[in-house]
Amino acid sequence: MRKIGVLTSGGDAPGMNAAIMSVAKNAARFGMPLVGIKRGYNGLLRRSTSIYDDLQELQLDTVLDIADQPGTYLRTARCTEFLDPKWREVAVKTLHDMEIDGLVVIGGDGSFQGAMRMCELGIPCIGIPGTIDNDLAYTEMTLGYETAVQVCTEAIRSIRATSRSHDRPHVVECMGRHCGDVALKAACATGAEIVVVPEVEWSIEEVAARLNKQIGKGNPRATVVLAEGCWESMKPFDMYGFLTSHGKQCFEGEPMSAERLASILKRMCGMIEVRSTVVGYTQRGALPVAKDSAFGFEAGYVAVKLLHDGISNQVIGTRQGRVFHMGIEEALKEKHTFRHDLYNLVNDIRIAD
Ligand code: ADP
Ligand code: F6P
Repeated sequence: MRKIGVLTSGGDAPGMNAAIMSVAKNAARFGMPLVGIKRGYNGLLRRSTSIYDDLQELQLDTVLDIADQPGTYLRTARCTEFLDPKWREVAVKTLHDMEIDGLVVIGGDGSFQGAMRMCELGIPCIGIPGTIDNDLAYTEMTLGYETAVQVCTEAIRSIRATSRSHDRPHVVECMGRHCGDVALKAACATGAEIVVVPEVEWSIEEVAARLNKQIGKGNPRATVVLAEGCWESMKPFDMYGFLTSHGKQCFEGEPMSAERLASILKRMCGMIEVRSTVVGYTQRGALPVAKDSAFGFEAGYVAVKLLHDGISNQVIGTRQGRVFHMGIEEALKEKHTFRHDLYNLVNDIRIAD
């Protein structure tokens, strides 16, 4: 293996820069020139007016100082063309033209699907898991998840302080696409009273009943933590009919949101003022916590070492706290297990032993 490439793809995640820096450091150590590919798989399709917007020779001193920065130095993007085999052939040609013999792909499951397709076309690839969502089953850690949980935890702590001062409930929405892990872990970390996730079917009436129970117990400052994807598993509710019949302006076809849920809960819980906050992108653009950066550091080394040793079609992860690697295909077949026990604990749902 002579020259290798590195790209970040999908949503950015704190810790990606630490991984890029580590890939650069170890490529230099093994004497392999490194090319940074810009904006995910887009850079391989060479559609920019200037080649430098697609591909960049990465010298170690260029990226030495990025390890502790949030975001991704290489930029990231989704690239729908990559789903089309014709465009993947273009990517392979770019790699051959540039004499790039192997790729490090930093991203989530979609990016790994792309990497798997590249492996099938004879391009050795190694995946480093980078997503705040924690939706990759084969690994205990992904770059960005710990940081996202930390940001949500800090946000919820602040919110609980003001909720406490005003004796009023609060609805907080955490990002995480179809995965409730960020919301669940932040709810555990803050002692939130209610958590709502895409993995468990729920109804607004149930959440209102739980909130009313808290208020009845003398706790009118309860926090309802929502995972971004929770609307997928919500039982049907006529938001328009409910809100308009309670004198609140609402337009037919409006989507549910944390703000709308707060408004409904207010009306179902004795008109107590319920406020809402969406943590959103602050989770993704935050400074990486040490655990994410340190994982990026080690994963970058393992990725380059594997390519150097002629081993490919692998993804890197952690198990029982140790960094390991396994085949991409098998890794992507693993099914994510949601912690229903913790979900029940937060929501105070008692399960018979
Ligand atoms: P993530 O990697 O964070 O899961 P996405 O699911 O948005 O993010 O995927 C990122 C990119 O990976 C897509 O925009 C596309 O370029 C590529 N990709 C996703 N799925 C596939 C697939 N089945 N085949 C080839 N490329 C894919
Ligand atoms: O996959 C990471 C993620 O931040 C999800 O949590 C979220 O649903 C999605 O990306 C948002 O994507 P975009 O940046 O395209 O709005």
